[in-house]
Amino acid sequence: MRVIAIGSDHGGYELKGVLLEYLKGKKTKVIDCGTFSSDTVDYPDIAKLVGSKVVSGEAEFGILICGTGIGICMSANKIRGIRAAVLYNDYAARMAKEHNDANIICFGGRTTEPDAAKQMIEVFMKSKFKGGRHQTRVDKIMSIEE
Ligand code: RB5
Repeated sequence: MRVIAIGSDHGGYELKGVLLEYLKGKKTKVIDCGTFSSDTVDYPDIAKLVGSKVVSGEAEFGILICGTGIGICMSANKIRGIRAAVLYNDYAARMAKEHNDANIICFGGRTTEPDAAKQMIEVFMKSKFKGGRHQTRVDKIMSIEE
């Protein structure tokens, strides 16, 4: 069974609820890292929680949502081992996996339509990392952490 960690700030709380329901209907285990109400929280805290589940291997990949997807993605990319990408269409969803081997995908609760987010998750989950020259580039991304 595929294990996914999910988290949002208040700006993504509603979309997180929709995606949790959607993922329940699939053969996945979802670890909900919060937030658990629409009260204001700081998105870097949520990025850290989801990122740690991915880095530890507890989750295969993560989904992060804030108002735009931007702040929470920037935060996740500060975590060693994380490659987070804001997805904006199906092509980006496929490329994020095939070329960038993203391990966290991000959406904007105020900018991404729920059905579009579901579709992008579907595409991302079906895609496979292509390796080869893309591995060289991903290795170079990761070497920036050193
Ligand atoms: C919170 O209002 C908002 O700044 C946050 O959800 C996100 O959009 C930041 O990038």
